Amino acid sequence: MRIGIIGVGTVGASVANILRDNKNVITARAGCEIIPAIGVVSNLNKKRDVEIELTDDVEKVLNDESIDVIVELMGGIEKPYEIIKKALKNGKAVVTANKALLAYHRYELQEIAGDTAFEYEAAVAGGIPIINALRDGLTANHIESIRGIMNGTCNYMLTKMINEGVDYETILKEAQELGYAEADPTFDVGGFDAAHKLLILGSIAYGIDAKPEDILIEGIQNISHEDIDFANEFNYSIKLLTIAKKVGKEIELRVHPSLIPTTEMISKVDGVMNGVSVVGDKVGETMYYGAGAGGDATASAVIANIIDIARRGKGSPMLGFEKPHGEDIRLMSKDD
Ligand code: HSE
Repeated sequence: MRIGIIGVGTVGASVANILRDNKNVITARAGCEIIPAIGVVSNLNKKRDVEIELTDDVEKVLNDESIDVIVELMGGIEKPYEIIKKALKNGKAVVTANKALLAYHRYELQEIAGDTAFEYEAAVAGGIPIINALRDGLTANHIESIRGIMNGTCNYMLTKMINEGVDYETILKEAQELGYAEADPTFDVGGFDAAHKLLILGSIAYGIDAKPEDILIEGIQNISHEDIDFANEFNYSIKLLTIAKKVGKEIELRVHPSLIPTTEMISKVDGVMNGVSVVGDKVGETMYYGAGAGGDATASAVIANIIDIARRGKGSPMLGFEKPHGEDIRLMSKDD
């Protein structure tokens, strides 16, 4: 199976390198060899840590009949939207890690995909297979709540600010250098990236078709030294929480910083790690923990989708953002 990687940055390079490094297990598990045939980049002169062929001609790759799967890792919204639409119309399976794109266009793209595989495990919580858990493992349940730390950059920053007293600007710069932050880090610190992920999970768990503008989003920019001193003195941690909570026939979706007692398990999710607690009406609480950002962790989830497509065939989609959804639930107004 030949794949084209659109965007060969931190995650794209990891995808190509893991396919090379873990070729034996991946081939055995996929049932065929997965070949990173070509990468598309905007600047061919930039030095990259990959061995695959590179081009700056995206159309050529989209029209290349030998390419089975397009892996979109370029970021942004409208440009990847057009690229994915074209790839799906050309009958190529698509894997994306692009949560901002999915926050706005997930239902349309799922519809365009029809019977072609369209997968996005890496879009939420990096290496944690949370979409798989919601879509498959917990699918017998009504989901009562989802509470998560789903932005690695903010969690890394807050952990260092609280535990080591590092200042906001220094630690943001470090998170950018480590490849955790979005190209525009306002998406991270403003809570938007976490909100994009929450909307994706909200669709899978509840069939909610909402946009970021419809939900309450507050970032970490206004956390003060006093807040940090208070948290330290009274044994709380400060976390940027993403919350989905069912209240009767309504679902509340919100993102904001929260004080959490250090006795709670989720308060121990530190650094770039993400943690997600999902409560199902039958299973009770389940918890997921793992690296929420970074090249290899995110690529691990991307490649899981590619292997899945190789096993099932690119014309056998998993349940995704289709309607109707079994839940009869509407979004609570953010002003309530
Ligand atoms: N900027 C994101 C984060 C990357 O820090 O969580 C992973 O989605």
